[in-house]
Amino acid sequence: MKPVKVGLLGLGTVGTGVVRIVEGHQEDLQSQVGSPIVIEKVLVQNKSKSRSLTIDAEKLTEDPWDIIHNPNIDVIVEVMGGIEGTKGYILEALAHGKHVVTANKDLMALHGPEILRKAQEHGCDVLYEASVAGGIPIIRTLIEGFSSDRITKIMGIVNGTTNYILTKMSQEGADYAEVLKEAQALGYAEADPTSDVEGLDAARKMTILSTLGFRANVALEDVDVKGISSVSREDIQYAKRLGYEVKLLGIAERQDDYISVSVQPTMVKQSHPIASVNGVFNAVYVYGEAVGETMFYGPGAGELPTATSVVADLVAVVKNLKLGVNGKQELLSYKEKKLKTDEQ
Ligand code: NDP
Ligand code: HSE
Repeated sequence: MKPVKVGLLGLGTVGTGVVRIVEGHQEDLQSQVGSPIVIEKVLVQNKSKSRSLTIDAEKLTEDPWDIIHNPNIDVIVEVMGGIEGTKGYILEALAHGKHVVTANKDLMALHGPEILRKAQEHGCDVLYEASVAGGIPIIRTLIEGFSSDRITKIMGIVNGTTNYILTKMSQEGADYAEVLKEAQALGYAEADPTSDVEGLDAARKMTILSTLGFRANVALEDVDVKGISSVSREDIQYAKRLGYEVKLLGIAERQDDYISVSVQPTMVKQSHPIASVNGVFNAVYVYGEAVGETMFYGPGAGELPTATSVVADLVAVVKNLKLGVNGKQELLSYKEKKLKTDEQ
């Protein structure tokens, strides 16, 4: 019954949700893993900032090494965002034998294979369910649920901010810039929302999904990307009159050895279920040779939905600790199959 001690990197939208769920669901979590889960230390940029939850001031630190090099901490939960600096922290944490849970798709899309290799070398888990589609457990589903099938296509809405914007523009004729501000205030948007509206966030998620789904090495630069910043209210209203909704769709397809991945604003017939995925909700269709068509739907961003996935990963790490099977996750680096992109 020794407590499992967690170092939380970040106490913004997602980090706050993680604390709320770990504290609020402690009894349920403990009954699943057999140990208390304790948030031992929390990294923030500014300790004096006012926060929406009460946290013991002693737990806050502005020094990442207080957590990464802390011998009492078993698991790092990274919900601060960022790429290069954050990668350094995670690699160092793994080198110190700490397991890692992250919601960081930017990092996993760019450096996932390196991070996962390092984790395996050190017998550590790195889990990243929250990095794609917030509260939908799509990563676990692709790895485990479809292990028996050959996936031919993954298609969906994987960015909550842009779907929120497009929905409000369609249903209320709202102004793009105003709705973007709302999405930021609701905690849906990235620190730099350019990556949401220009499609990069969705491209990073499609890189992760297609790598896992097709069991192939797909790189971010293989994805054709176009965002929604040039979509006007008039475009959306015109599409509606023709019986369509405009959605930012990620589409990844495989035919034999040919893989194409794209993110672009797409006119979707109003009769198609994906046209009714509104607001911050995401939906991912997975097509398998054996299973046919499946659809996964749920909130794609926001405090508690995202934290649900993060804490589920935390539970998985702790269960693995009990079983002594950490460091056995998929490597995100598959056989040397030559991929073809649209350019080839
Ligand atoms: P926020 O901007 O709300 O929070 C970031 C937190 O990290 C803040 O507490 C901030 O400190 C801290 N932080 C940031 N940079 C540093 C640094 N260099 N040193 C120390 N502390 C730092 O981000 P979110 O919670 O929205 O997102 C976190 C991660 O989760 C990102 O990778 C994002 O892509 C991902 N994600 C977010 C979702 C969402 O719905 N928001 C959904 C799915 C994934 P301080 O509070 O002092 O400013
Ligand atoms: N900014 C992202 C989105 C957060 O809007 O989908 C969830 O990954």
